Amino acid sequence: MIDNEPDVASSELLLLGALGDFLGTFHENAARFAEQRSMSLGTLAALSAAIDAKDPYTHGHSERVAMVAQLIAQKMGMSEAEAERVRIAGLVHDVGKIGVPENILCKAGRLSDDELKQIKQHPEIGYRILADIPALQDVLPGVLHHHEQFNGMGYPHALAGESIPLIARIIGLADTFDAMSSSRAYRQALPMEKVLAEIKQCAGTQLDPAVVEAFMTIDLSGYHALLPGQEQSVETASKNGPATTDARAAA
Ligand SMILES: [Fe+2]
Repeated sequence: MIDNEPDVASSELLLLGALGDFLGTFHENAARFAEQRSMSLGTLAALSAAIDAKDPYTHGHSERVAMVAQLIAQKMGMSEAEAERVRIAGLVHDVGKIGVPENILCKAGRLSDDELKQIKQHPEIGYRILADIPALQDVLPGVLHHHEQFNGMGYPHALAGESIPLIARIIGLADTFDAMSSSRAYRQALPMEKVLAEIKQCAGTQLDPAVVEAFMTIDLSGYHALLPGQEQSVETASKNGPATTDARAAA
């Protein structure tokens, strides 16, 4: 034995060995968990990109809604884990558009009552698509109710106020915000000051005032980086009126 080697009893060596094994397993599990988590997030992101691809005008919409919704959730004091669930709800909120014909989703002109009815089915279609996935149970209310309005004028269940699940009130705001900030087949994007003014104006009617308050304090620089460069035309936008009065603004 070398002189300066510490005198370690064999029981301590055994204990250290066991601890090493335990940490090794723990590390392995953590790595596997991280791998599974990034795989399922990747799958969801691919799914949402596939939906957005149905309409070139909504390209990246789900990703942007997810980002804004997560930032609002964090501002409202949700834990990181809860805010991540809100982000996932944002990623998949429009998955039901898979069941709506492209010629309706992408139509530039006015929609007939029947076409509007078909578009309005997408929250329920999305809910049915995702309902059997155990890992997504907690995000389902965000999908089903993202078009409810605080004043009870939304769909599919015409819920009002806090009877609308919070996750859906958050997704609803993020969705409306992105719909106004990006160009669509039927109108140009609105200038950011106008979008923010519209959102403020909708507090208490279409939108939950508490969610609007949190939204007004978030840092939107990451959002702007995700937004493709779009020509904003005040003239066209004002000709078409405020986006929130357009039935498809947040469809
Ligand atoms: Fe939607």
